[in-house]
Amino acid sequence: MTPISFAALIFACLLTAPAALASDDDSRVAVDMPAMMRSHMLANMRDHLLSLHEIQSVLAAGNYDAAADIAEKRLGMSSLQSHGASHMAGFMPQGMQAAGTAMHQSASRFAVIAQETAVTRDLPRALDALGKVTASCVACHAGYRLK
Ligand code: HEC
Repeated sequence: MTPISFAALIFACLLTAPAALASDDDSRVAVDMPAMMRSHMLANMRDHLLSLHEIQSVLAAGNYDAAADIAEKRLGMSSLQSHGASHMAGFMPQGMQAAGTAMHQSASRFAVIAQETAVTRDLPRALDALGKVTASCVACHAGYRLK
C-alpha cells in the first residue's frame, strides 16, 4: 500500500468510526451472566488480546514454534479447560457457543500451520491462518455483548 492510499484509508476510518460508535441501534444480542462469570470471561478476553499481540511479536521474530505454543495453549482447544469453557457455555446462546468453538478450532489449526511454517517459512500462509482466528473474534463481537 502506498503512503498516500494508507493515509486515505486512515482518513476514511476517522470519518466513519465516530458515526458507527455514536449509533444507538446496537443489534447485538445481550447475554446475561452471573457477575463472577462475567468478570472471568472478560479476563479471558483480555488474555486473548494479549495472546494475539504475543503471537504477532514472535511471528515477526520468525519464532514460529513459540507462536504455535501460545496459540494452542492460550486460544486453542488445549485452553478450553483453563478457560472454564464448559461452565461458561451454559450461559451462552447457541450461536455464541459456536463462535467460541470456531475460535478454539481456528487457533489450534493456526498452531499446526505455524509449526509447519518453521520448516516451510511460508509466512503469508501462517498469517492467513491467524486471520481466521481474528475473524472469529470479530464475528462473536459483532453478534453478542454482555448485559
Ligand atoms: C464467543 C464469543 C467471543 C469470542 C469468540 C471472542 N470474544 Fe471477546 N468478547 C465477547 C463478549 C460478549 C465481550 C463483551 C462485549 C460487550 O459486552 O460489549 C467481549 C469482550 C472482549 C474484550 C474486552 C474485555 C474487557 O475487559 O472489557 C476484549 C479485549 C476481547 N473481547 C478480545 C477478544 C479477542 C482478541 C478474541 C479472539 C482471539 C475474542 N475476544 C473472541 C465475546 C467473544
